Amino acid sequence: MLLIKGGRVVDPANNLDGVADVLVKRGKIEAVGPNLKSGEATVCDATGKIVAPGLIDMHAHLRQPGREDEETIRTGTRAALRGGFTTVCAMPNTEPCADTASVIQLVTALAAAEGAVSVLPIGAITKGREGKEIVEMGELVAAGAVAFSDDGTSVGAAEVMRRALEYSRMFDVPIIAHCEDGSLALGGTMHEGCSSTRMGLRGMPAAAEDVMVARDICLAELTGARLHVAHLSSAGSVELVRQAKRRGVRVTCEVTPHHLILSDCDLLFYDTNLKVNPPLRSARDRDALRDGLLDGTIDAIATDHAPHARHEKEVEFVDAPFGMIGLETALPLLVEHLVTTDVLSPTQLIEKLTTGPAAALGISAGTLSVGAVADITVIDPAVSVTIDVNAFESCSRNTPFDGVRVSAAVTDVIVDGAWLLKDGEIEG
Ligand code: DOR
Repeated sequence: MLLIKGGRVVDPANNLDGVADVLVKRGKIEAVGPNLKSGEATVCDATGKIVAPGLIDMHAHLRQPGREDEETIRTGTRAALRGGFTTVCAMPNTEPCADTASVIQLVTALAAAEGAVSVLPIGAITKGREGKEIVEMGELVAAGAVAFSDDGTSVGAAEVMRRALEYSRMFDVPIIAHCEDGSLALGGTMHEGCSSTRMGLRGMPAAAEDVMVARDICLAELTGARLHVAHLSSAGSVELVRQAKRRGVRVTCEVTPHHLILSDCDLLFYDTNLKVNPPLRSARDRDALRDGLLDGTIDAIATDHAPHARHEKEVEFVDAPFGMIGLETALPLLVEHLVTTDVLSPTQLIEKLTTGPAAALGISAGTLSVGAVADITVIDPAVSVTIDVNAFESCSRNTPFDGVRVSAAVTDVIVDGAWLLKDGEIEG
């Protein structure tokens, strides 16, 4: 038994925000309430801290199989644990890509053997993520796939996307769309705007995202399938999702911490760690994303943790791959930039990292309800920490936040009832 004592329990699923204890027994939440008796339980003192349901990251690249030099399921899930995530979805753009049941089974087996947190595999929509032939969705779902995505690229042909959405309805799993019109974005390395002109780089217009979000919403409307739009980055796509939700379309969406915090102005020093896809957009887009979170248009915050080898990022800006890592920095950065500045309340932030992604995925995690699996994250919201890439669990180092001071940290994490992160250190 484990008793988490005296923390501020923030559990959006149960509308709970107040000082309470949380008792864990046999891997489940046994009780939540004031002054619970510790008896024989081990005690985790959470005084002055926030006790939240284990965070869920519905969008991470764990790179295994194929790019174990960049990340593995072991290192990626240890990074997740450090970052407070007890569930991570693994994106399918591995080598080979997760377009068959056997790759999904491999990811699941590796996660069971070496994973520090739960891993939910996402299957590709099309074979080889080539946008042509739809995968055997039924076999992938049977093997454990919880959603389908060709993330990294859009399904170019609307007809293929339509069939994929129709097929997904049989299993009631979401199709996660990377929305980017390849012809509009072609050759672009950053957002098209004043900054790209000043920097002399070819831009990707926000419209490249907007037109694809509009198309996929139309197709979700046509098919009645569940569409989840990955990493929203533009004001236009926030508005498109907002209107679609009003019409009752089954659409959900996510935003990354970096799109909420940064803008294209931050790129002026050509730091390749800031090269991401979709690109960091204008301050106006960033503000629209924040508004979308607040009014419920955006359901979830997801890291898009995208590890890349040092030698691949240490090149000219145009040649570098897209992506930054995020599992170990997401929570502290979000508290620093959105909670301490009163953009979001702690409850709103936790909601976007627990109940929001759980509902988008249709899984029963992200709550401290009695009887639920004991996945719990304890956060110190008032501690000064300097982000240090050399202390990361991730195999990769591609973050622009090295050396940045933040005033929050994940201190303790309980996964499936086991206290795996203690006072910032991983057990074992
Ligand atoms: O920045 C990104 N990196 N965006 C994507 O869509 C893919 C990802 C990756 O796999 O590196």
